[in-house]
Amino acid sequence: MRVLIAYATHAGSTAEIATFIASELKNHGISAEVKEIREVIDPGEYDRLIIGGPIYVGRMKEVEEFCKQHQATIKGRLIGAFTVGMAFTGDEVKQAEARQVLDTAIAPFSPGRLGYFAGKTDPSRLSFFERTALKVVKAPIGDFRDWNAIRTWITGVADDLRG
Ligand SMILES: Cc1cc2nc3c(=O)[nH]c(=O)nc-3n(C[C@H](O)[C@H](O)[C@H](O)COP(=O)(O)O)c2cc1C
Repeated sequence: MRVLIAYATHAGSTAEIATFIASELKNHGISAEVKEIREVIDPGEYDRLIIGGPIYVGRMKEVEEFCKQHQATIKGRLIGAFTVGMAFTGDEVKQAEARQVLDTAIAPFSPGRLGYFAGKTDPSRLSFFERTALKVVKAPIGDFRDWNAIRTWITGVADDLRG
């Protein structure tokens, strides 16, 4: 069984989460490839897909475009999807909005395992434009990734992969 974790990233924090997912799956005896989403030419080469990306100004643009472009191929293969955003450090209203961003990006798919992870902001890795946008969305600065929460989610994904 070939498993792919396809991720989008701007500043690297989602890439690190994708790599962590692969290494945790390995601990469950499952090997998975990790690729940046724009390098995935044909998702049909894989039996199972896990797709994730960050939210930037209320959107998961790369994931949304990928799911639209490969809709026919993704069907029946997508077993998990995750989103990374600072909204998951916020109140329930903000979190609900951010969960909706993932739903929209992967529509019409709704895999059994959806992961919602707080992310990381590092202004030194951002352009002037991105730093300005960061202020507009009022995202906190720092690394809020909760590796234990991510690990728990992966355990569920591993169960589904063993199916
Ligand atoms: C310009 C900018 C806009 C952002 N907009 C949002 C947002 O609308 N909602 C959210 O939850 N997080 C937002 N974030 C936080 C990112 O999703 C978070 O930093 C994530 O970990 C970035 O992932 P990456 O390092 O893989 O690019 C934003 C961050 C930046 C820099």
